[in-house]
Amino acid sequence: MPDLDAFIAGLPKAELHIHIEGSLEPELMLALAQRNKMAVRYATVDALRAAYRFGNLQDFLDLYYQGMAVLQTEQDFHDLAMAYFSRAAGQNVRHAEVFFDPQGHTERGVAFKTVIDGLWRASRDAEQKFGITSALILCFLRHLDEASAERTLDEALPWRERFIGVGLDSSEKGHPPSKFQRVFERARGLGLLAVAHAGEEGPPDYVRQALDLLQVRRIDHGIRALEDPDLTARLVRERVPLTVCPLSNLRLRVVPDMASHPLKRMLEAGVIATVNSDDPAYFGGYMNENFQAVQQALALSREEIVTLAGNSFRSAFCDDATKQRHLAALDSYSRQ
Ligand code: HPA
Ligand code: ZN
Repeated sequence: MPDLDAFIAGLPKAELHIHIEGSLEPELMLALAQRNKMAVRYATVDALRAAYRFGNLQDFLDLYYQGMAVLQTEQDFHDLAMAYFSRAAGQNVRHAEVFFDPQGHTERGVAFKTVIDGLWRASRDAEQKFGITSALILCFLRHLDEASAERTLDEALPWRERFIGVGLDSSEKGHPPSKFQRVFERARGLGLLAVAHAGEEGPPDYVRQALDLLQVRRIDHGIRALEDPDLTARLVRERVPLTVCPLSNLRLRVVPDMASHPLKRMLEAGVIATVNSDDPAYFGGYMNENFQAVQQALALSREEIVTLAGNSFRSAFCDDATKQRHLAALDSYSRQ
């Protein structure tokens, strides 16, 4: 069996499922806490990393919201995103579509403008400095009510041209997509592209709701869709991409071990699956580590790896000419 780690490392790829707040590494978290003169619950990098043991999604989210509280200034958001773009570009990520959680910041008194200015400036700077292109997707926190999501969309409207879409994240169980039907309809009416987390911990029906009620272009995670053969067939037929996050699924115990991960079954069924990092600072790896973990556990072939990278460009929200340029680069890389 050839060692595909080096092939994966050099592979041109796009990342379509990354929460920028989940890329906050312990070292930067502590540096920002110091810069902002804030007390922290875990005082060292080792203590923080030791705390990153999760029984489920909610265990993680509790620490994720605590961690992001160190983000206070425009410069903090800029530094956070630049650190991510630098690492991603170093792993040959050519394009990233980046989630951010404004309610995680506005609820604790940080202005929407502070968040979007910092992330936007980093997106511009990273293109100049590292050659990586990116776009922002505004996510609504599903454990909050729809009125809060509506207010967040209102607050974001002055910066409408700085984000390309809306998403739905946070605690899935008990918070079905139907809860956000109206705010998604309004967002789509503004020309925003819709995506939603569904079928991570929630049932296949939440994936159906995301498609039918929110009219999403992609499903984030979606791995529980594979429990339902009719739904799986629909995803194939309608060419709905899934943004799959293998290390996240393992660390949040959505799968018992990597060998049980359904990614290979998705490809065999004809589902347009992609590999992504979700919250790399919390789950033990960025893009390459996700590809490598799943390649090894499922014995993915070189061709399957190329299909996954191709799917990432085909599923991205960029124009056709840009997609073709990335796919041509992937093709020439994979022929070497
Ligand atoms: N699921 C739901 N919400 C999230 C996640 C996730 O994996 N990461 C950050 N917010
Ligand atoms: Zn996610």
